[in-house]
Amino acid sequence: MSTFKAPKGTYDLIPPYSAKYLAVRDAISGPLRLSGYGYVETPGFEDVDLFARGVGESTDIVTKEMYTLTTKGGANLALRPEGTASVLRAALEANLHKAGGLPVKLWYSGSYYRYERPQKGRYRHFSQVGAEAIGAEDPALDAELIILADQAYRTLGLRNFRILLNSLGDKECRPVYREALQAFLRGLDLDEETVRRAEINPLRVLDDKRPEVQKQLVGAPMLRDYLCDACKAYHEEVRALITAAGVAFEDDEKLVRGLDYYTRTTFEFVHDGLGSQSAVGGGGRYDGLSEMIGGPALPSVGWALGVDRTVLALEAEGVELDIPAATSVFAVALGEAKPVLFGLVTELRKAGVAADISYGGKGLKGAMKDANRSGARFAIVAGDRDLAEGVVQLKDMESGEQSAVALAEVVEVLRTKLA
Ligand code: HAM
Repeated sequence: MSTFKAPKGTYDLIPPYSAKYLAVRDAISGPLRLSGYGYVETPGFEDVDLFARGVGESTDIVTKEMYTLTTKGGANLALRPEGTASVLRAALEANLHKAGGLPVKLWYSGSYYRYERPQKGRYRHFSQVGAEAIGAEDPALDAELIILADQAYRTLGLRNFRILLNSLGDKECRPVYREALQAFLRGLDLDEETVRRAEINPLRVLDDKRPEVQKQLVGAPMLRDYLCDACKAYHEEVRALITAAGVAFEDDEKLVRGLDYYTRTTFEFVHDGLGSQSAVGGGGRYDGLSEMIGGPALPSVGWALGVDRTVLALEAEGVELDIPAATSVFAVALGEAKPVLFGLVTELRKAGVAADISYGGKGLKGAMKDANRSGARFAIVAGDRDLAEGVVQLKDMESGEQSAVALAEVVEVLRTKLA
C-alpha cells in the first residue's frame, strides 16, 4: 500500500470487477445507438455559470454540492455535476440545432462530481450514461427515452425496478400552482430551513421524508389539479405510448427531481433493493433550459442512468452478467521457445483471439499457474523439442486433454475451437 488512498467518496474500479461497469455502460448505450443517438463527449469541467444558471440556483446540487475552482488565469470553473447542461451547451456551440433535422439526439458516458455526504450508492465521483433529444416537443420522444431505458435495464437482467412518472407542468401552469402551494405552506408549522426552502423551491417540500412534515402536507394542493390543458394532453399521450409499448409505470404526483430545469414530463427509475439511494436513473423534459443558457427556444428531453447504482442493483438482485473471460489462450514457453510463442500470441491477437503469455522468465510450474489464473480456455505449451518438430502442445484447460498441433495451424485451430 502507498501512503495515499482514493479520496473520500470515491473508489477505484479494479479488474475483474471493473468489467461489470464496462458491460453496464455497453448495455445502456446499446439501445440508444440503435435509435439514432450519436455519441458526444464534453469536458469534465465547465464555466461555473453554465450550471449555476442552467441548473438553477435553488437546488442542492448547485448551491451545496458543486466542486468549483478558480484557475491561475482567473476563470471560474466547476467539475460537472451532471451532463445535460454540458451537452446542450456543446450542441448549441456546434450549431447542431441549425444543421437541419431536429431533434438532435445525443448520448454520452462519463464521470460526474458532487460534493455529497458519501454513503452506499452515493459518491462524490460517479458515472452516468445519458441521452438527450434536443429541439423537439413530441410525446413520442419522451416515450422513446423511457422505453429505451427500460429496455437497457431488462437486457441487463434487472427486474425489480419501477418507473415513476409525473408532469411538472409548463411556464403557464406551474407558476400558478407554485403560488397556491406556497400559500398553503406558509400556513404550516415548519422549521426555519424548510420555510426557506418553501420560498425558493416549494415543490421540494412535498418530497420531505420526515413524518411530522408529511402529516402536515395532507390536503396540500396537488400539481395535477393545476396542469393546463396542453400539459394534460401531452402527459396523456406520453402515458398512452409507454403503455402501448408494454412498459409498466406508476404515476407519482410527488415526484420532484433534484435539478430545477424540468418542465412537463419527469420520471425516475427506482430499485427496491438499494435502500435510501434507490434512484438508479432519472430524467425528463427541460423545455426552457436552452434559453436559460442564452440559446434559442429548444424544447428537449433526456435522462441519465447511474452506472454505479445500476451495478449495485444487479448485485442486489443477484444477477450475474455474462462476461467472457478476459483471456482465451495462454502461452507457456519453455527453454528457448519464448520468441516463437511471443510471435504466435501476437498473431492470435491480430486474429481477434484474446491471448496472453507468461512473463518474467518463470519455469513450467509458475507459468502454468499464470495460465490457470488467467481463466484461459486453452494453453499453448512448447519447449525446444516441440519447436524442432514444428508443433506446440495445445492443452484444453477444462478437460486437461493435450495434443500436438502444427505451429502453422495453431491460429486457425484455436479460432475454430473458440468460435
Ligand atoms: P440525476 O437524477 O441528478 O439527473 O442523476 C441521474 C442518476 O445519476 C441518478 O438517478 C443516480 O443513479 C446517479 N447519481 C446521481 N448522483 C449520484 C451520486 N452522488 N453517486 C452515485 N450515483 C449518482 C441528472 O443528472 C440529469 N442530468 C438527468 C437528465 C438528463 N435529465 C434530463 N436529461
